[in-house]
Amino acid sequence: MAKDVIIALDFENKEKTLAFLDQFTGRKPYVKIGMELYYAEGPAIVQEIKARGHKIFLDLKLHDIPNTVKKAMAVLRHLDVDMTNLHAAGTIAMMEAAKEGLTREDGSCGVLLAVTQLTSTSEERMQSELLINASMPDTVKKYAQNAKAAGLSGVVCSPLEAALVKEACGQDFLTVTPGIRFADGDVGDQVRIMTPEKARAASDYIVVGRPITAASDPVAAYNRCVMEFLGIDA
Ligand code: C5P
Repeated sequence: MAKDVIIALDFENKEKTLAFLDQFTGRKPYVKIGMELYYAEGPAIVQEIKARGHKIFLDLKLHDIPNTVKKAMAVLRHLDVDMTNLHAAGTIAMMEAAKEGLTREDGSCGVLLAVTQLTSTSEERMQSELLINASMPDTVKKYAQNAKAAGLSGVVCSPLEAALVKEACGQDFLTVTPGIRFADGDVGDQVRIMTPEKARAASDYIVVGRPITAASDPVAAYNRCVMEFLGIDA
């Protein structure tokens, strides 16, 4: 199964994003476009980065009533991105509707993932604020099983829960894991974290933002991630 490092392009505008990408003259990184950049620049930024030859994970984390999410996914379908996502908390009915919206007329569909619990959420806060009376592993496992039942390709989860998801949903069910930090790096607001090297065992894709985007040498930081996660020179 293909594994890769995805860089989170958490930038405020197109200029900063393209200046960042211009530094990568060798391997074209798989990139993630999230809410900040998409809301600032609109669908054109997706088309522009795609035209530069990057694979794209559009991380908009949809969560609304099934009909609204289905229609939104039908619009996003035209951007032809490689991967997109929604919140599993929206229920199986919402996830099924999303998949229907994303499916092309010929029956094909891009990779659709469900966010289980954000990697910034601790078990304590999930229980005390969201009143979810289960453990974090049990919650992630149930959300992943719901996503599989809805026909999704995989989940976004903490690398700490990726092995559990594989065990519950099968090796082919994708695990995409943010919350990646170098052993000697800053943790920031992430809570459930792991190094690229350790994530290798159960993650199909790692999503790395600030450890690369805020590094003094982003290309070197990306290459280090590729080396630690994929075991190859970038
Ligand atoms: O900078 P950092 O490496 O923490 O960036 C992680 C990226 O992954 C951010 O863009 C964040 O929105 C995203 N993400 C996450 N946890 C999830 C889903 C997405 O951190 N469960």
